Amino acid sequence: MMKKLQLRIITTIFATLFLGSFVFTSCEGPEGPMGPAGTDGTDGVDGVDGNITCMACHNVDVKNQITAQFARSQHASGAIAVDYAGGRASCAQCHSHDGFLEWAWNGEVAENIADPKAWECSTCHALHQTMDSTDYAFRVSGAVTLLDESGAVVDEGNNNLCVNCHQARRGRDSYEGTADETYERTFTGADAAHYAETPSIGPNGSITVNATQDTVVVVFDVPVATHTYINSTHAGPHHGPQGNLWAGLGGTETGDMYGPHSAGCVGCHMGDNSNHSFWPLDENCDACHGSKESEMDAIADRIHAVGEALEDLHAVHYDDEDGAYHPMYASLTKDQFDAFWNFMYVLEDRSNGAHNPTYIKALLTKCETVLGI
Ligand code: HEC
Ligand code: HEC
Ligand code: HEC
Ligand code: HEC
Ligand code: HEC
Ligand code: HEC
Repeated sequence: MMKKLQLRIITTIFATLFLGSFVFTSCEGPEGPMGPAGTDGTDGVDGVDGNITCMACHNVDVKNQITAQFARSQHASGAIAVDYAGGRASCAQCHSHDGFLEWAWNGEVAENIADPKAWECSTCHALHQTMDSTDYAFRVSGAVTLLDESGAVVDEGNNNLCVNCHQARRGRDSYEGTADETYERTFTGADAAHYAETPSIGPNGSITVNATQDTVVVVFDVPVATHTYINSTHAGPHHGPQGNLWAGLGGTETGDMYGPHSAGCVGCHMGDNSNHSFWPLDENCDACHGSKESEMDAIADRIHAVGEALEDLHAVHYDDEDGAYHPMYASLTKDQFDAFWNFMYVLEDRSNGAHNPTYIKALLTKCETVLGI
């Protein structure tokens, strides 16, 4: 019975492909004859109803609209990081069309890619599989085991596609040492002035400034039982941890998905009209509530206050030039490191609470408690 259903669907595909020369390319062209009515599948799922179902997605209006929207998307321009990260083997699975395809086929990107391209329709879409009304012909649609080594799995329909890339690259625990350590680093230039007075060097750390004050040697002391080391100016979960926070994961507190927002990335960023600019339009919130701008502004203020307190610890530095916070080398108490970690998470998430209001507020509360705000 299953075989027969598939056979009929395949026949329908060929029929539609054939007739599709009118349907896909011209608004004026004659509509093809209706496909044969679907028989009911044995499992109770209705068979596909010829052209009618296909036309819901494959019509010229939808195609034109989507093409125009997609042209405005940051995926299409790849402005931030395709050139910078799209060709590097360790980054490409999320940062270029070519890298994502190789990863989807082979589960890894073996070598650097010479001429990486930004996203195209075929980055996310490939072949139909089930041919039912929810089959968007995705290249990758399965459950996502998160990269942060927590073992957590996110399996949320069409959102899975996004979560493959919009997730943390590492977890909080990857910063934990296995033995007492000291790290000696030499700072010059503008950094020398910063690190000459850093308070976060651990219980037995030291700071040595040379005679001309342009070189500073800091020994960071990191007792494994009490301290954690910020070991890089890129420390943190990485820039796009939206998938984790949306699911209520990744910060130092336990959390849950925010029920009212469970429709997820595609619910807010695409909506009923499959908006391919991927910008979270107000019209996608309207069905449930009016503007949440003031609530989101309030959360943004809390994030900023935490940032300032972490700056006092020299755990981060706010750069006026690029208007962004950057991590600094530091030996923090474990609680302080938790605050640093949660801060980087909610900062890089960039939704000012929208992705998961309850969880994001809980992470901020933890920061505020630790930092005495
Ligand atoms: C839920 C939306 C949706 C429905 C319904 C749908 N498609 Fe598609 N289809 C897509 C998307 C998205 C793509 C990939 C992007 C593109 O080519 O527009 C695609 C691609 C295709 C392609 C080219 C790639 C391939 O799979 O070989 C064919 C052919 C196709 N669809 C045929 C059909 C037929 C026949 C039907 C009806 C039985 C159908 N589609 C129903 C969304 C849909
Ligand atoms: C698991 C997927 C993933 C991997 C692997 C990954 N990135 Fe990213 N990266 C993202 C996402 C998603 C964004 C966009 C986030 C956003 O716009 O909020 C991003 C953004 C960036 C940005 C822009 C930051 C900004 O503030 O505008 C840079 C730079 C970057 N990544 C560098 C890298 C480098 C270098 C590597 C490899 C060493 C890498 N990424 C690996 C997912 C990834
Ligand atoms: C970043 C991934 C991504 C890219 C790139 C992308 N799409 Fe989609 N597309 C999606 C997702 C996700 C959906 C399903 C949205 C939903 O669940 O409502 C979708 C849905 C669709 C649909 C069904 C529309 C409907 O009315 O239901 C069509 C057709 C489509 N895409 C065509 C395209 C075309 C054409 C392009 C290139 C111009 C493109 N897509 C690029 C992710 C993508
Ligand atoms: C192949 C990995 C990948 C997939 C799949 C993907 N994204 Fe992205 N997305 C990125 C990266 C990387 C960027 C930053 C692009 C750049 O400018 O270089 C980005 C940018 C964005 C932006 C714009 C961010 C900004 O700074 O303006 C939004 C919004 C977004 N993605 C949402 C989504 C949604 C929603 C989905 C699922 C329908 C999705 N993405 C699927 C990797 C991906
Ligand atoms: C409740 C609605 C909602 C849900 C669910 C949602 N987003 Fe967002 N997202 C937003 C809002 C609102 C913003 C903030 C936009 C702004 O800066 O004004 C945002 C910001 C972003 C940004 C940063 C855009 C930028 O340039 O500042 C990315 C990337 C993103 N979301 C991706 C995702 C992904 C991936 C998912 C699913 C895992 C998701 N979002 C789920 C509403 C949502
Ligand atoms: C399916 C319904 C639904 C959609 C769609 C939806 N929300 Fe919500 N959202 C809720 C509910 C319910 C609440 C909790 C009650 C309230 O605050 O109105 C909420 C709460 C919020 C909060 C927390 C407010 C606070 O108290 O701090 C923010 C922020 C938010 N939503 C932003 C958005 C944005 C932005 C969008 C659209 C991009 C969106 N939501 C789409 C149902 C939804």
